[in-house]
Amino acid sequence: MIVVTGATGQLGRLVVQQLLEKIPASQIVAVVRDAGKAADLAARGVSVRVADYNQPATVEAALAGVEKVLLVSGTELGKRVAQHTTVVEAAKKQGAKLLAYTSIPHADTTPLKLAAEHRETEKVIRASGVPFTFLRNGWYTENYTGRLPPALAQGAIFGATKGATIGVAARADYAAAAVTVLTGSGHENRAYELTGDGDFTLPAYAAEISRLTGKTVVHTEVSPEALEQALVAAGLPAPFAAIMADCDVGISQGALTDPSGDLTRLIARPVTPWRETLAAAIKALH
Ligand SMILES: NC(=O)c1ccc[n+]([C@@H]2O[C@H](COP(=O)([O-])OP(=O)(O)OC[C@H]3O[C@@H](n4cnc5c(N)ncnc54)[C@H](OP(=O)(O)O)[C@@H]3O)[C@@H](O)[C@H]2O)c1
Repeated sequence: MIVVTGATGQLGRLVVQQLLEKIPASQIVAVVRDAGKAADLAARGVSVRVADYNQPATVEAALAGVEKVLLVSGTELGKRVAQHTTVVEAAKKQGAKLLAYTSIPHADTTPLKLAAEHRETEKVIRASGVPFTFLRNGWYTENYTGRLPPALAQGAIFGATKGATIGVAARADYAAAAVTVLTGSGHENRAYELTGDGDFTLPAYAAEISRLTGKTVVHTEVSPEALEQALVAAGLPAPFAAIMADCDVGISQGALTDPSGDLTRLIARPVTPWRETLAAAIKALH
């Protein structure tokens, strides 16, 4: 039995959908906070179990009988190590044969502040003795295409990346890698550096938006401090804005690229070109 947490999230939902193409629904458990959001999965025969990372008893019940589990990292910054530990302990108690965890590229060495909780979680997982796979996911292309309306309204993409390459891939690509690991063998105790291998940079992205929409969008390089202030002004909580600005500094130093080719190898096809994801996002605006 394969358990997927965060199954009503954007990544988890794609994982469950792709699992359904490979294995019977009766072998899939979707762990969710709100069963109402998973009605479509239940209708397809997936077992839906309700749990909250903050409530260990619910997590333990949700992982009953688990063989392999995909722990989709949580969203509450500062709480995540405790939350993830709860899932790791439940997986250990159940004698899980594999725990796959959505981490961040080079979690053990990267300077990104955002990586701290991933690094700690990886340590907890290693110490647990449960066989693991670290899916060190790079940025989703959708992190950018999801913010098209403000970019078009402002006619600008602001960043502090110094125009460096960002190894983006579509969420569906990362989901496919997770499915390969969950349904395959030989992935125990491995860390995969999952990044796209394309030519995505913020200047190239702005130019492509302009080309596809006919509306001029310029890339504007700003200092990390200015970016942080702009994010706060746009409504982001100050600690999160600081972490996001720090990510751009890391990106400028190549933190979100990797030459391993792990992603294309795991999904056995090229990564979805970012221009394709962008074109679809623009089409969806109309
Ligand atoms: N690689 C990247 O570019 C990138 C970007 C953003 C985030 N991330 C990380 O990758 C994860 C997956 O990305 P995503 O796009 O699928 O994010 P998402 O759409 O926000 O999904 C997050 C999932 O985590 C679940 N969750 C959050 N807190 C929980 C809790 N206390 N107990 C149980 N479940 C909880 C959510 O449940 P509900 O469905 O009930 O809300 C949701 O299903 C994120 O959670 C984050 O850690 C990565």
